Amino acid sequence: MRVLVTGGAGYIGSHTVLQLLGAGHDVVVVDDFSNSRPAVVGRLEELGGRPVPLLAFDVNDTDRLAATMSDEGVEAVVHFAAFKAVGESVAKPLEYYRNNVGATMSVLEAMLRTEVAHLVFSSSATVYGPDAPVPMTEDLPTSATNPYGWTKVFSEQLLRDATVAHPWLRVALLRYFNPVGAHPSGRIGEDPADVPNNLMPYIAQVAVGRRERLAVFGDDYDTVDGTGVRDYIHVEDLAAGHLAALEWIQEHDRALSVWNLGTGHGTSVLELVHAFEEASGRPVPYDVVARRAGDVASSWADPTRAEQELGWSASRTVAQMCEDTWRWQQANPEGYPAV
Ligand code: NAD
Ligand code: WQD
Repeated sequence: MRVLVTGGAGYIGSHTVLQLLGAGHDVVVVDDFSNSRPAVVGRLEELGGRPVPLLAFDVNDTDRLAATMSDEGVEAVVHFAAFKAVGESVAKPLEYYRNNVGATMSVLEAMLRTEVAHLVFSSSATVYGPDAPVPMTEDLPTSATNPYGWTKVFSEQLLRDATVAHPWLRVALLRYFNPVGAHPSGRIGEDPADVPNNLMPYIAQVAVGRRERLAVFGDDYDTVDGTGVRDYIHVEDLAAGHLAALEWIQEHDRALSVWNLGTGHGTSVLELVHAFEEASGRPVPYDVVARRAGDVASSWADPTRAEQELGWSASRTVAQMCEDTWRWQQANPEGYPAV
């Protein structure tokens, strides 16, 4: 299959591109490098053993996207391209709505123009909102607490509406829990442009000596040790979930599918800190500080639907997530080279 991957130079996209290549698919990447570096392409070619065509443009350019899809004979789209920093989305809501909801509309419009039916969309467990019970099932109502989260709720809604109007579409909404880890080679991984917003890259930068101490956001939650509990999923398992979803929507006649991609297990902040210390052999000093606004105590998936329908489940352990993150961090302490 010939698959267009938007945002394929990014963290989750790059791992998925590699697995698509490994499964024998042809890939065309569109990425404007707004949150990634061109150096990833060479790494993907080195690991994948073949050229990775990458077109550097904004997917909001619908005419160019549609032209690319027809010129390249694209048969399916995996749409990762979005801005993802929750705090920044509160400060710059219009940029987030324009880039994220706009990009989803642009991808959809280009698909309708070129009659491409298959779409796998990067959604997020954030769409379960602040009050969802754990474990979270796909049929819970959706909501959000910040503009980033709303861009995912709105993108899901517009895709849902489109499948009603155009029932030949085959759309998968994948709700990721907390993606972490890196390719076991240590050649590709998560490379935050600025101070990491997320826990795992922050821990990794403390362990490697790039930052002094971790701030733990609250230890008075109603959890195992008082710190926040999340469902960390290895990015390699997550990437495999995309391939499983892509195959499923090709073989089944359901216009809209929603799947959680998580492990079904929760890990606390301090449990992750200790697992990382174990994996790296380095200390991760931390201070407990106030809770972060908008955080929930616990979030983990009920991944039963993906297991039953896709035959997919996450197999990598928290220890592997830490080991692979550490290998990437140690080999690339400053992330990808700038050129
Ligand atoms: P990332 O920032 O590493 O990757 C996104 C890529 O899209 C980047 O390479 C960026 O340059 C590109 N991009 C952004 N806007 C673009 C545009 N308009 N045109 C072309 N390229 C554009 O992020 P990621 O962690 O790989 O996330 C991928 C997707 O998964 C996003 O949609 C994100 O919202 C979603 N998601 C991420 C997480 C997470 O914790 N990482 C969790 C749930 C959902
Ligand atoms: C995990 C835990 C923090 C950093 C976010 C987005 C969500 C999704 C994934 C895209 C929490 C604690 C964190 C730190 C800490 N993204 N923490 N010190 O908040 O579950 O989800 O990323 O869709 O939308 O909200 O992930 O990694 O930021 O936090 O103590 O420096 O670590 O309080 O308990 P989160 P996270």
